[in-house]
Amino acid sequence: MKHDWKALFSDNIREYGGYSIGKIMALCNDPEIISLAGGLPSPDMFPKEGIRTASARLLEENLEAVFQYSPVPGEASLMEAVTDYLAADNIGIKKDNLVITSSGQHGLDIIGRVLLNPGDTVLLDRPTFAGAIVAFQMQRPRFAGVNLQPDGSDIIVYRKKIADLRKAGQTPKFIYVVPDFQNPTGITMSLEKREALLDLSYETGILIVEDSPYRAFRYQGETVPAIYSLDQQRDGDHVVGLYTFSKLFCPGIRTGFAIGPPAVIQAMTNVKEGNLLNTPKYNQDLCTAFLRDMNIDAHLATCRTFYGRKLKVFLATMERYFPEKTGVTWTRPEGGLFLWVTLPAHIDTKKLFYEAIKFKVAFVPGEVFYGENPENNHMRVNFSYASEEQLAEAIKRLADCISNQL
Ligand SMILES: Cc1ncc(COP(=O)(O)O)c(C=O)c1O
Repeated sequence: MKHDWKALFSDNIREYGGYSIGKIMALCNDPEIISLAGGLPSPDMFPKEGIRTASARLLEENLEAVFQYSPVPGEASLMEAVTDYLAADNIGIKKDNLVITSSGQHGLDIIGRVLLNPGDTVLLDRPTFAGAIVAFQMQRPRFAGVNLQPDGSDIIVYRKKIADLRKAGQTPKFIYVVPDFQNPTGITMSLEKREALLDLSYETGILIVEDSPYRAFRYQGETVPAIYSLDQQRDGDHVVGLYTFSKLFCPGIRTGFAIGPPAVIQAMTNVKEGNLLNTPKYNQDLCTAFLRDMNIDAHLATCRTFYGRKLKVFLATMERYFPEKTGVTWTRPEGGLFLWVTLPAHIDTKKLFYEAIKFKVAFVPGEVFYGENPENNHMRVNFSYASEEQLAEAIKRLADCISNQL
């Protein structure tokens, strides 16, 4: 006998479709396709010797403990190493400001669970990280988006939006931002806007969620202080920071951390206890070794040189194949792993994606990066994974694919 199990699904899950990038990535399996779609760091940048040495030591000296359950908030040794790592970025935290997560995506999931009831409003940039939208969607919130500007979030429009929403009886719960080399655009929020965002948060009591996986990957220009550190300078507690080892170290380690006000971190830890229990100690110990023993400063310098060169090649090749008359424009990030390409308004990048697959090149259609009212003529491209030669070839293929539609 067969049953309609879907009839039993919860209200939160019945309409929930998961991550559409995942489905698109599945179409990129053909080895002849050069994929600019994923957000993968290059395996050339995995600190392989360090991983081998640390793994061998863990298995030799500590196997029993490493494969045992471990504390829900995180391993003390990793929490101390993370505290030191953040201190170098002018962020001062104590134990009750920190929970280890099983990746940045996990951090997004648990902050969404802690803060959102169905129908609550989340403020976010247009566009913003699709994985955050998907994580928050699990709680069925409403999204109120504000168009991103070349120097980051539009705080003036955020302020207006909050006032309008309040008039309609809706106070948003939090503002979600990726201030450093945003995924998908590569845009960085200016210092003035970070301060203005804090002002807005203080005025309205709306929390800021600062998601920052790419902060260490600046290839040119000056570092802008983390919103978390600016908040601390003003003796505030209005920011939750989400971090991950995925890009710094390697994504397979599935480990990250969240920092914030003790009450929020305690609630996130409680949710973690229910949905995961502990992040594997083995993974955490490798992250501790990464921060303590793998010469992280030299490692990050190597990553910056490696990815910075790829970005240069990418931008130079774009100039060559997309002269001004094509009407194609793109962002020019100072770091991170992505940039955002805008095509003339009549080109729908979702349709173009299937065309591009025939030309053996892939990107992510821009529409997945909007919480509401998606725009259809953008694409996100990643420049960290493909080789420099592949990047140049991928842009040539893109230009061939797009040329008959311009
Ligand atoms: C802005 C942002 N947040 C969070 C994540 C999640 O990363 P992970 O789950 O690999 O830690 C990513 C990954 O691409 C990202 O770009």
